[in-house]
Amino acid sequence: MFGKIVSHKVRANKIHLEFEKNEGIIEIISPMIVNVFCPLKYDNHYSRAVEDLKIEQCEILVEKKDFYIEISTEALLIKVYDDFKVDFYSIEGKILCEDFREERAPFVRRGTISDAQDEGHSVDIQADKHKIEVVKRLFGDEKFYGLGEKTGHLNKRGYYYEMWNTDDPTPHVESHKSLYKSIPYFITLREDCAFGIFFDNTFKTYFDMGKENSKYYYFGADDGNLDYYFIGGNNVQSILKGYTDLTGKTPLPQMWTLGYQQSRWSYSPAGRVKEIAKSFREKDIPCDTIHLDIDYMESFKVFTWDKERFPDEKKILNELNEDGFKIVTIIDPGVKKEKNYDIYETGLKNGYFATDKDGITYVNRVWPGDSVFPDFSKKDTRDWWAENQKILLDSGVSGVWNDMNEPASFNGPLPDDVQFENEGRNTDHTEIHNIYGHLMSKATFEGIKKHSGKRPFVITRAAYAGTQKYSTVWTGDNQSFWDHLRMSIPMLLNLGMSGISFCGTDVGGFSFDCTPELLSRWVQVGAFTPLFRNHSGSNTRDQEPWAFDEETLNINRKYIKLRYKLLPYLYDLLWSGETTGLPVMRPLVLHYEKDKEVYEINDQFLFGENILVAPILEQGKKIRTVYLPVGQWIDYWTKEVIDGGKYILKETPLDICPVYIKKGSIVPNYPEQNYVGEKDIKELTLDIYPGEGQYVHYVDDKESYNYREGEYTLYEFIMKNDEEATIDINIKHEEYKAYDSFKVIYNCDITKEVYFNEEKISFVETDNKIEFVIPAVSGRLIVK
Ligand code: GLC
Repeated sequence: MFGKIVSHKVRANKIHLEFEKNEGIIEIISPMIVNVFCPLKYDNHYSRAVEDLKIEQCEILVEKKDFYIEISTEALLIKVYDDFKVDFYSIEGKILCEDFREERAPFVRRGTISDAQDEGHSVDIQADKHKIEVVKRLFGDEKFYGLGEKTGHLNKRGYYYEMWNTDDPTPHVESHKSLYKSIPYFITLREDCAFGIFFDNTFKTYFDMGKENSKYYYFGADDGNLDYYFIGGNNVQSILKGYTDLTGKTPLPQMWTLGYQQSRWSYSPAGRVKEIAKSFREKDIPCDTIHLDIDYMESFKVFTWDKERFPDEKKILNELNEDGFKIVTIIDPGVKKEKNYDIYETGLKNGYFATDKDGITYVNRVWPGDSVFPDFSKKDTRDWWAENQKILLDSGVSGVWNDMNEPASFNGPLPDDVQFENEGRNTDHTEIHNIYGHLMSKATFEGIKKHSGKRPFVITRAAYAGTQKYSTVWTGDNQSFWDHLRMSIPMLLNLGMSGISFCGTDVGGFSFDCTPELLSRWVQVGAFTPLFRNHSGSNTRDQEPWAFDEETLNINRKYIKLRYKLLPYLYDLLWSGETTGLPVMRPLVLHYEKDKEVYEINDQFLFGENILVAPILEQGKKIRTVYLPVGQWIDYWTKEVIDGGKYILKETPLDICPVYIKKGSIVPNYPEQNYVGEKDIKELTLDIYPGEGQYVHYVDDKESYNYREGEYTLYEFIMKNDEEATIDINIKHEEYKAYDSFKVIYNCDITKEVYFNEEKISFVETDNKIEFVIPAVSGRLIVK
């Protein structure tokens, strides 16, 4: 495809390479990030993920060697050979990533395909060669993480996936190559070396992570540019930072979006919504949000209300809002093809819909029957869609749930030749498919931002790399299966490793009937999942926290209340994630990458750095092994201090989800509330696990963008544990009126005296801990 290197030229941060048959560009984005590019379709990057490519000025040395061109930055050495083979080394000369020099050699498949098919088995055929293909050498000890929302395990080594947003209602299992989201990005971890690769290509892409041969792995695409970023870094965390520097960070959401959310297909009519809301308050279960699925609309027409079921939507939403409930409505992209329906007519008149190859508006069938599809690749359409959000906001809606935006369609998939405007670069569905949902979410986000002034809450099913800037995601139509609860952990962890921090699953499962035990275990995971929403499908049995029995209700209440207690900690995680790109739910490998034991842990995760969760993911299981990494950990329920670096056994009656706090942690807690903002919290509880540690707590108005103008307060805590324990409290920034006092829960039973700024503080002692109150000012706390 390329042939021999003929010449090279250096222009600013780009090294242009002329090959016999093609040209190639190596672009230095920063000392650690390098782009490999060949303009097979567009002259330049044409990215929907990287909207603001920042080039860091850095020293670049380029030298022509006998057989290759050598490029070096402060951190990396890049060697470019004939055929545009590119190898990456650390600056010390350690090989990191090497292009494979031989032809692909798929393993042999024996037997006849048709026999297996006759019996109804689905069979794989050997993957073809792709128009664009980058084959990399496997060294043997690679682990692969990321690739967004895929079935299977945390480590993707040995598996094959495709990126083609897919709405597949069959139970999601390991053989599914694609689901709703396409995030062509992965992290490779080898002994003493890690890097990321982001293949920024929106066409159908293919990732074989060493499945067809254990000597190599590859990624490929049907069309588009060869355009991938090599992201180096000293550890997995810095690689994730590098990737999110490119594609964007999950922004801090409004705090209520982190509360508990209740959904089902569908709460309708209005009376049923009120009933649900009332039950939450009566049964003393905190809840912030109720979702309205498709039946609130008139004949499934987006941006309308069914006036029989919701005769006065503004009034009812207002009443719910007053009782502390936010309402999120579903919006699908399919616009009903119906004369005199305003949205349809306006879109048609202005050419906002995708067309067939002859320029006729393309029609397929979705919930409303015959429907047309907004061309979100066109700015005018996005602006129009953004304006439509006002209709919902004016009704009292607080967030928008974008569904069916792969796009899903009932009369077969959209044909490849459906036309999109693509900002003046007219193209077809093959290029837009994977970014359709991404662009719809961007439009939704921008509309809500403009018309509410608050941080938008958008949930989307389909996504591409970078969607985290605009929307939270949920993992689509799972089933009320134990296997799906189990699979949700690596799936969410890999979404996090792919930059999507704010994510969740349908708690309790969408299709199939949930059982009391399954819901009890699922809510225990949900409490630690950024998006915490119970949702279930049409015609399934009721799945609200109270829908089963007293025990299930109590367990739901216990974990939902725990979630509300941990809200300030969770909010801190999202706030810091805006800078670090680190997700809320983290595989252990993100913090303990030198510990081989954690590489394949699929059933435990870290909730931020300090809380380890080891949920029960199997029916009937009343004891499990838990791996505690090096250090000391405190059992959250018993307060037992346990040495890490080993496996332990933990008994798990139905109401216990094993949770461990790292020694040296300070965990901020809120008092009980029915919903976020119910109380003006003037006293923050600090749940302290003595040891060496630091923590930063962030406070703002929980909803607006004023924090970006500096309206926030930051408390820094530095805890030391020498002869006496000291905690230095520093208010680092104070532009938002936060707390009057801190209620300290100090988890240690041998305390004799407590001083704050040299003043003696009295305390009460209860089992294994003491409690006292100090003013929320800078100062030194000493516990003797
Ligand atoms: C899709 C969504 C699901 C929703 C249903 C009806 O299946 O994934 O969450 O309830 O459509 O709108």
